[in-house]
Amino acid sequence: MQWLITIAVVLAALALVALKLWRFGKELSRLDSGGETKTACHGCPGSARSDADLGITIKPLVQIGDKTKQSLMALWVVVACIGDVGMSQEIRPPNYDESKASNFDLVSVLAGPDGKLIESKDQWSAQRKYLVDLLAKEEYGYAPKDSVAIRTELFDDGPAVLGGQTKSNIRRRQIAVFLERDGKRVRVDLALWSPKDRPKAPCFLGLNFRGNQSTCDDPKIRLTTSWCDNRSPGVVDNKATEASRANQSERWPIAQILEAGFAVATAHYSDIDPDYDDGFENGVHGLFPEDRIDADHPSRWGSVAAWAWGLSRLADVLEKLDGVDPKGLMVVGHSRLGKTALWAGATDERFQVVVSNNSGCGGAALSKRIYGESVARINTAFPHWFNRNFRKYNDREDLLSFDQHQLIATIAPRPVYIASASNDKWADPLGELLSGHHASSAYHLFGKKGLDAVELPAVNTPIAQGAIGYHLRDGDHDMLLYDWEQFIAFAKQNGF
Ligand code: GCU
Repeated sequence: MQWLITIAVVLAALALVALKLWRFGKELSRLDSGGETKTACHGCPGSARSDADLGITIKPLVQIGDKTKQSLMALWVVVACIGDVGMSQEIRPPNYDESKASNFDLVSVLAGPDGKLIESKDQWSAQRKYLVDLLAKEEYGYAPKDSVAIRTELFDDGPAVLGGQTKSNIRRRQIAVFLERDGKRVRVDLALWSPKDRPKAPCFLGLNFRGNQSTCDDPKIRLTTSWCDNRSPGVVDNKATEASRANQSERWPIAQILEAGFAVATAHYSDIDPDYDDGFENGVHGLFPEDRIDADHPSRWGSVAAWAWGLSRLADVLEKLDGVDPKGLMVVGHSRLGKTALWAGATDERFQVVVSNNSGCGGAALSKRIYGESVARINTAFPHWFNRNFRKYNDREDLLSFDQHQLIATIAPRPVYIASASNDKWADPLGELLSGHHASSAYHLFGKKGLDAVELPAVNTPIAQGAIGYHLRDGDHDMLLYDWEQFIAFAKQNGF
C-alpha cells in the first residue's frame, strides 16, 4: 500500500513540474517576443474582442541568454512548486450562469454613511459627495487636489476632410494642450470638429485608444507620438505609423455626429496616461510625484482616475472655445474608456450627459453579480487601472459595501446612457442594465424617470424614455454608428 502512495506522490510531483516547465516556457517566449501578454476573456462565450482590447503590455526589463534562462527555469520550478504546495491562490473562473448571478444585496443609492435614506432632492448634493468619496476611496482613487497650469496652442484650424471629401460646413481644429506643474509638462492633443452653422454646439468629448489619426481619414490629423499598443494595426515599437490612420474610424462617425448638429472632440488616452503598469511614473501621474499610489497610500489615483481627470482638463479648454456650448459638454467612452467616462461624469458635474459604452466591470456592471469579468480578474490583468483598496475585493465581492449602481447615481440628476452589446458577455449586459435600474431612485428625487426595466430588452430596441437610457446592440464589444445614433437621439431628447 505504502509503495502505491509513494508512486502516486512522485507522479503528481512530476506532473506539477511538467506543468510548471510548460508555463515557464510560454512565459519565456512571451518575453522573447517583445513582452506581449494577452489577457484572454477566459471562457467568455461569443465575445469577439480584439487583442488590443483584451490585453496589457509588459516590457522586458533585460535581454536574457540561454544559460540564464536555464538557471532561472530551475529556480522558478523549485520556487513555484513550493509556492503551489504552500499557498497557491487561483482566481475564481468567470461565471456565465445566470442562476448563480442573482443572489446579491445592494445598498440603496439614497443610503448615507449612517445607513439612513435621504428623502428629498435638497439632500442630494451631500449624498452625491458621499458616494463620490466612497468610490474614490475604495475603487478609483483620489486625484490630486493641486491644480496644473494649462497652456494651449491652436496648431490647426481649417475645413474637415472626412471620407476623402472636404467638408466646408465643418470646422476642424487641433489644439496642443500643455498641462504644466513644477517644471514638468504633459502634452495632450485635442482634435475638435464643430458645425459652422451652429454657433454654440453641444459637444461630445471622448478619449480614443489609438491616437487622433485613428479616428478618421483626414491626412492633416497629427499622428500621435504617445505610446501605442503593438498589437494595434499600424503600430511599430509602440509608435503609431501612417498606416494607423483611420483604423478605428468605425468608432468615430464624425460626419454623422456633425450632421446631427453636434460637435465632437477627442484625444488619445495615452497622451494622458500610457496604458501599462509603470509604477505611475509617466503621463499625468508624473506631474504629481507626491500623490503616487503606494502601500501606505492605497486610495490614491489609478489610471482610470487619471484619464477622467484628463477629460476634466480638456473640458477646461473646451468650455472656453467658440463654436462649443460650455453648458452642453457630454462625455462618452467605450470599454475601459467607458469606465473612465462614468468616473469623469461622477467627478465633474460640467458633463451634462454621460455615455458609457460596453464599460463592464468597474464601469456600469454590478460587481456583486459575479458575471463575466470579476474584480479579481480586472485587478490582476490591469493592476494600474484602480486603486489598491479595490484589491481587497478580489474574489471577495461579499465584502463590498458599495457597487456600480452608486457610480451611475452620482451622475443624477444629469442624464446617463448605458449601452451594451449582445455578444459582450464579459461586460455583463444585464449587470450594466441593473446598475441603471438601481440608480433610479436618485432620479426619482428630482421627479425624473430612471430605468424601470429589470430584464434585457430585445436587441436594437433602446429604452430611452427616462433620464437613464439603455440599449443592447446586436453584436460584439465595440462602439459603432448604431450606438452613436442612440447617443445622439438621447442627447436631443434631453434638450441638446
Ligand atoms: C479588457 C478588460 C475590460 C475592458 C476592455 C477594454 O477586456 O477586461 O475590463 O473594458 O479590456 O477596455 O477594451
